[in-house]
Amino acid sequence: MKPVIVVQNLTKIYPLPKAVNGQKTFEAVKAISFEVQKGEIFGILGPNGAGKTTTLEIIECLIQQTSGSVDVLGFNNLESGDDIKKRIGIQLQSSQYLHHLTLGELLDLFGSLYQRREAEPLPLTRGSTSRSEGRGLEKNQLTPTTPSATQPPLLDPTSHKASSDLRKEGNAPQYSFDSWIDTKKSLLELVGLLEKEHSEVKDLSGGQRQRFTIATALVHTPEILFLDEPTTGLDPKARHDLWQLIKTLNNQGITIVMTTHFMDEAEFLCHRVAIMDSGKILEIDEPKKLIDRLSDTIQISFFTEKQIDQSIFSVMPEIKKAHADFPKVVLEINSLDKISAIVTLLKTHNIVFYGFTVKTATLEDVYLQLTGREYQE
Ligand SMILES: Nc1ncnc2c1ncn2[C@@H]1O[C@H](COP(=O)(O)OP(=O)(O)OP(=O)(O)O)[C@@H](O)[C@H]1O
Ligand SMILES: [Mg+2]
Repeated sequence: MKPVIVVQNLTKIYPLPKAVNGQKTFEAVKAISFEVQKGEIFGILGPNGAGKTTTLEIIECLIQQTSGSVDVLGFNNLESGDDIKKRIGIQLQSSQYLHHLTLGELLDLFGSLYQRREAEPLPLTRGSTSRSEGRGLEKNQLTPTTPSATQPPLLDPTSHKASSDLRKEGNAPQYSFDSWIDTKKSLLELVGLLEKEHSEVKDLSGGQRQRFTIATALVHTPEILFLDEPTTGLDPKARHDLWQLIKTLNNQGITIVMTTHFMDEAEFLCHRVAIMDSGKILEIDEPKKLIDRLSDTIQISFFTEKQIDQSIFSVMPEIKKAHADFPKVVLEINSLDKISAIVTLLKTHNIVFYGFTVKTATLEDVYLQLTGREYQE
């Protein structure tokens, strides 16, 4: 596979307004290196202040690094920032929109910022340009152009065909105002907001707002989409809807780089995750492989009615770790076969217990093992 992002020894040192412990600077990102492959969903997972947003913003050409190199789609971020920006879509950790504009009008605005109406692609449309009436924009503002050969495949929610396929089949659309209207509608449809085209952002729910932000990041059909904590603050249903959208976008060819606090999100969505903490990348791998390394770890936890002496577990060498912090007891074993022996041991000592749970390894355990501390969301 071809890397679309190559980050080498990336370091970011921020100046501080006042010295803290004699330090006038803060090193937020500490010589990290990683690559993102074309077509993958790459996650950066880490707690508050880990350096996730800083890393993303450097790659997105919004801020510059202190040292190290960043290449995106073959362009160096310091030399060719504009080339990169044209090819990527960005969803920031929080977004503000102009008041009193509807979703449709905001998309028109974003489209015009990217000169979307004059440029190629129509991967989002269905190949029809037969509509006679448009809204909001004058037709004479438009200058249809010839499609470029480099346009990335993208987003046709109905046919799931890439624009290049449409072209090969001789169905390449003519680029026109009408096609932008089609594109806009397809975008809204894709993010499930077609019926909200004439609503304002302030009237959207949190999940709808996040989905709209993704639509705005897609107006210029980017090859890479950056999502900074896309599901923070959403309820479970809205989170799952957004997960589905992210998968759909990825299935249609967009490489996705996302940050998250949520282990389950990273486990479900990401082909590979970088676990980041205090400016460093601790590990990069497929979630399953990271977890498999801990596959011999099964965690048993329960509550006891009375304080217990955890040395009682030393008679069972299969118990790799025992931690009693009244009322909770946590044991680590390497085989499910040992569970009945543990229950017997507790009964032998007349220990009354409740809330007995057995948990196999998750990404959270990987994090715990890598950092030696509990994950704090
Ligand atoms: N402009 C700045 N000046 C000084 N320090 C900064 C600046 N921006 C970020 N930092 C610090 O750099 C560290 C990393 O911040 P960053 O926003 O990258 O973390 P994050 O992993 O995205 O955190 P979160 O999960 O809270 O979004 C933090 O300690 C933050 O306070
Ligand atoms: Mg952040």
